Amino acid sequence: MTSSSPPDTQSDKSAPPTATVDSSYYHRHVFFCLNQRSNGEACCANHRAQEAFDRCKSQVKGAGLAGPGKVRVNKSGCLDRCAAGPVVVVYPEAVWYTYLDASDIDEIVESHLKNGQVVERLLIPPHVGR
Ligand code: FES
Repeated sequence: MTSSSPPDTQSDKSAPPTATVDSSYYHRHVFFCLNQRSNGEACCANHRAQEAFDRCKSQVKGAGLAGPGKVRVNKSGCLDRCAAGPVVVVYPEAVWYTYLDASDIDEIVESHLKNGQVVERLLIPPHVGR
C-alpha cells in the first residue's frame, strides 16, 4: 500500500461497523403506533390508527414498494409522542407524521415512500411529546 491509498477498513477487525442507508435491509421502514389505552388517556388507537396502518400497507403493496430493499410497514406500540397522535414515523430519515384520513396516508405513500419527498404539512413539531 502506498501512502496515497485509502485505509483498508475491511481488514481492520477492531473498527466497529458503521450504519449506512446502503446497509439497511429495508430502504424505508415505517412504524404506525397502534397503542390502545383503557384508562382514558390519549392514544393513537382512538384515532383510527389501525385503519390507517391497513391503508398504508395496502397502498405500499399495491404500488410495488413492499419488500427487502424497498419499504416495510410495521405496527408499533406507543412511540411516546401521544399528544401528536395518531403518529407514524419513517426511517431512516426519522420523519414523524400525524394524519387525519386516508388521503393523508396516500400522500405519505406517494410523496415520501415512493418519491422521497417529505410531506411538510403533516410533520409533527419537534417539541410535541407525550
Ligand atoms: S399512544 Fe401513540 S405515540 Fe403514544
